[in-house]
Amino acid sequence: MSTAAVELTDVKFSWPAQRPTLDIPHWQVEQAGTMLLRGASGSGKSTLLSLLAGVNTPQQGKIELLGTDLARLSARNRDKFRADHIGYIFQQFNLLPYLSALDNVLLGVQFSKQRRQRLRDPAEKTANDYLTRLGLSQRQQHQPAAELSVGQQQRVAAARALIGAPELLIADEPTSALDADRRDRFINLLLELSNANGTTVIFVTHDASLAKQFQFCTELSDINRVTSSLAEADDA
Ligand SMILES: Nc1ncnc2c1ncn2[C@@H]1O[C@H](COP(=O)(O)OP(=O)(O)OP(=O)(O)O)[C@@H](O)[C@H]1O
Ligand SMILES: [Mg+2]
Repeated sequence: MSTAAVELTDVKFSWPAQRPTLDIPHWQVEQAGTMLLRGASGSGKSTLLSLLAGVNTPQQGKIELLGTDLARLSARNRDKFRADHIGYIFQQFNLLPYLSALDNVLLGVQFSKQRRQRLRDPAEKTANDYLTRLGLSQRQQHQPAAELSVGQQQRVAAARALIGAPELLIADEPTSALDADRRDRFINLLLELSNANGTTVIFVTHDASLAKQFQFCTELSDINRVTSSLAEADDA
């Protein structure tokens, strides 16, 4: 059994009717480690995250999360595994627009008994605490997500991903709408909350300047044998 939080071995993935997007001989992320994953636009970062979350399945190779081989789980058990162990901040946030910020955060523990059991306080208190620390006022917390600014929605998505202390936090470019100062504070808080929970963090960006806040940094082009046309254009 692997002791890494995430381990990929000989993973190959292609979208239907397209040339391969990913061909990764080996990549791993330590438990409780914080990893920045960098790469050019279109190079396959979001695709890789979708494989880690079990949303898509590689045509070849093995993905182990917390020592579990995702391919050995039925689709139903993969959904359960994701709900129990992974907090995911999507590139497009995926908040429910008509629900309040607070209720969106509570969704993070709604589908997982394990995550509810890890709460030290009632879920509402934890959600309120996270959102307050992330800078949302009481009034904003009760506003529908659709009425929040993009940067505020990003912070709601972060709180939803972190609540109930999932072992793995996957964040797909969650700071694109923030100015540099807010971005740094957001990442520090995200890492502080993750650290307090012992959560492994995989944070995707194309912004090289963020590397200093993370323990590890991987360039997708260093682990992926497929080179994207944009990355090739950048090299030229
Ligand atoms: N749902 C999909 N169906 C088919 N092809 C897709 C799909 N999602 C992504 N792709 C293709 O896979 C490649 C990698 O896309 P991906 O979204 O993983 O890149 P990315 O590194 O996350 O880019 P960005 O930094 O712009 O978010 C692109 O060529 C894209 O067209
Ligand atoms: Mg992406």
